[in-house]
Amino acid sequence: MIDQTRLPAELVYLRIRDVRALWTAIQTLQVRGAPAIGIAAALGIVIAAQNAAPASTAKLAAAVEAAADYLATSRPTAVNLFWALDRMRRVAAASQALLPAVFLDRLAAEALRIRDEDVAMCKAMGRHGATLLRDGDTVLTHCNAGGLATSGYGTALAPIYTALEQGKRISVYADETRPLLQGARLTAWELMEAGVDVTLICDSMAAHVMKTRGISAVMVGADRIAANGDTANKVGTYGVATLAAAHAIPFYVLAPSSTFDFSLKEGSQIPIEERGSDEITHSFGRPHAPKGVKTFCPAFDVTPARLITAIVCEKGVLRPPYETSLKKAVAPTGDNSSPNPPIITRGK
Ligand code: MRU
Repeated sequence: MIDQTRLPAELVYLRIRDVRALWTAIQTLQVRGAPAIGIAAALGIVIAAQNAAPASTAKLAAAVEAAADYLATSRPTAVNLFWALDRMRRVAAASQALLPAVFLDRLAAEALRIRDEDVAMCKAMGRHGATLLRDGDTVLTHCNAGGLATSGYGTALAPIYTALEQGKRISVYADETRPLLQGARLTAWELMEAGVDVTLICDSMAAHVMKTRGISAVMVGADRIAANGDTANKVGTYGVATLAAAHAIPFYVLAPSSTFDFSLKEGSQIPIEERGSDEITHSFGRPHAPKGVKTFCPAFDVTPARLITAIVCEKGVLRPPYETSLKKAVAPTGDNSSPNPPIITRGK
């Protein structure tokens, strides 16, 4: 996979050979973005089982459990991580009676299915989301919810790619996204690579841009969406949503249903990752704040459902009240991983 920490300076691919290296890659954001984390974790489970072979199926299954427990500690907010690990655990549990080679095949098939489903979900979100965009529109986005964050078109950027394919002219303002600059490093890079008209701004410029630059819509991704529609996404998203409401600009969240967490009633229950103070006090290894200053570094925030105009998932454009529309979208069971049992939520 692409080492996202090296972009935009270099396009370098990482070769992951063990679960420890994958844990570090997720923790340090070499691989990041909710769907991409889930896919990487699923493939990590396959690596764990392959590395444990040759062994009995029971031993391979034990390696899967240990790897899933370990990878679940890498990052707490994106539910796609736990969703993918639970899918892999279920396949392992259902394959206990099989020969070791078949057990390994079943795991690999499930991981690749998770990846392929993501490609299809991105396409579908692009199709549904593009109905919200007209020729000449300008979209503001925050963080990176594009191809780099998924295995396909991305979530928030998918409608932009699709609209362009449909011949619509769409331009984009990308928030740089402090502190780790996913907007500047990744969104600006991937949109430019795709030939999209993108303008980079500092986060603090978003209000001015909304007031003066004719923003038609805000489109962002999500790391976890609670049953009532409250949405965790990269820190700063809540501020952007508040500004969008103040300027009567529609605010859209785009996320596959693997990002829904029906076990949480509302956003206050979503675990928010806090990261090290260096991410605020240093730029590229150099300090830009007084040594020893107190810091607070939440990596995500929660946008209340009332600020969200619509949530676009692979099933369509969902409108409030989200308590009903989210569940209806993943009917018949109301479970986001149908036909399997509800996801288990871990994290701090
Ligand atoms: O800390 P990151 O870079 O993993 O945060 C990523 C985001 O907040 C994305 O917007 C979200 O995961 C959606 S990606 C399709």
